[in-house]
Order: sequence, then C-alpha cells, then structure tokens
Amino acid sequence: MADSKKPFLTKKPFLTDVKTLRARARKHLEGGAVTGTYKGNVKKTIEILQSVLATEIVCVLRYTMHAVAATGISSEGVKAEFAEHAKEEQEHMNQVAERINQLGGKPNFNPDGLLSRSASQYGEAGDLVDMIRENLIAERIAVDHYRELIRYFGNDDPGTRAMLEGILLVEEEHANDMHDLLVAHEGRPMLKS
Ligand SMILES: [Fe+2]
Ligand SMILES: [Fe+2]
Repeated sequence: MADSKKPFLTKKPFLTDVKTLRARARKHLEGGAVTGTYKGNVKKTIEILQSVLATEIVCVLRYTMHAVAATGISSEGVKAEFAEHAKEEQEHMNQVAERINQLGGKPNFNPDGLLSRSASQYGEAGDLVDMIRENLIAERIAVDHYRELIRYFGNDDPGTRAMLEGILLVEEEHANDMHDLLVAHEGRPMLKS
C-alpha cells in the first residue's frame, strides 16, 4: 500500500523535538503566550473573551446587589449563597481578564455598553424568589454559552478551552444551587420528570 493510502488513524501525532521547540520559543518574543502552535484566530478569541468578561462582570454586579438587597423570611442563608456566588463570579472575571491580557488584548472593563456585550442580564428583581429565578436564568444562559464556546475552541486554543471548562463546572454548580433554593422556597420540584 502506498504511504498516502494508509488509513489516517495509523499515523502518530507529530511531536516537535526539544531543540526546535527551544529555538522557536526564542523567536517572536513579543507574542508572549501566543506562539506559532496557536491555531486559533487571536483577534476573534479576544473579541469572544471580551463578551465572556462582560458576562462575568454583570454576574458579579447582579449577585452583589442581590446579596445586599435580599429581604424576607429565611433570607439570611440565601444572602450568603448570593455573596458566595458573587465572589466566584469575580474570580471568573479575573481569570478571563488575565487570559485576554495573555493573548495580547486589553480587558474591556468599560461600563459603557457593558450590558450589550454581556450574554446574561442584570436582573433587578423584586422579591427573594424573583432574585433566585433571575439568577437561575442567568446561570443557564452562561452554561449554554460556555458549552458552545468550549466546543468552538476545541483543539485550536486548549488554554482558553481549559479555562472555560473550569468556569463551566462552577456555573453548573451555581445553576444547581439556584434551582435547589427555588425548590426549597416553592416547596415543589421544578424539574419535570
Ligand atoms: Fe461566572
Ligand atoms: Fe455563575
């Protein structure tokens, strides 16, 4: 069988030798973390991450406001949950901002146009149950958005993908926490079997 006709799967992935890796890393130092093996479109990645950053900032603001403004019977436990989520959203915000910086971009923290860059909404909400519901909606949006982005980055940018995978796990936990609170407050399961 001629080489070109061999099934693709029998080929081992190509690994660059250490000498070439070292020589390559010394060139184009201005690229920082973006080296020649980066297969993504850096400009597009930064653009996507600016929208992820806006989403996380809006989540920090919404949870912080809810943690302060929540009132009513048994609101103390819920307030604590909101405050914990606010802290975790802030960690995501920092991670994404760092990643934009690593890729050579400038993280956009400008409050102008923040909501239009964000996937999730601010969600003012009146009472405690409304707040929980708003947060659950926002978390479900974030979960969908991040799952899609993880698939989009695939092997083109494993660094960004790994970061988003870590964030996704926390967002799934957040959605689950909000769902549990809603069930506790409404006294009935929300999920249809
Ligand atoms: Fe988040
Ligand atoms: Fe979240």
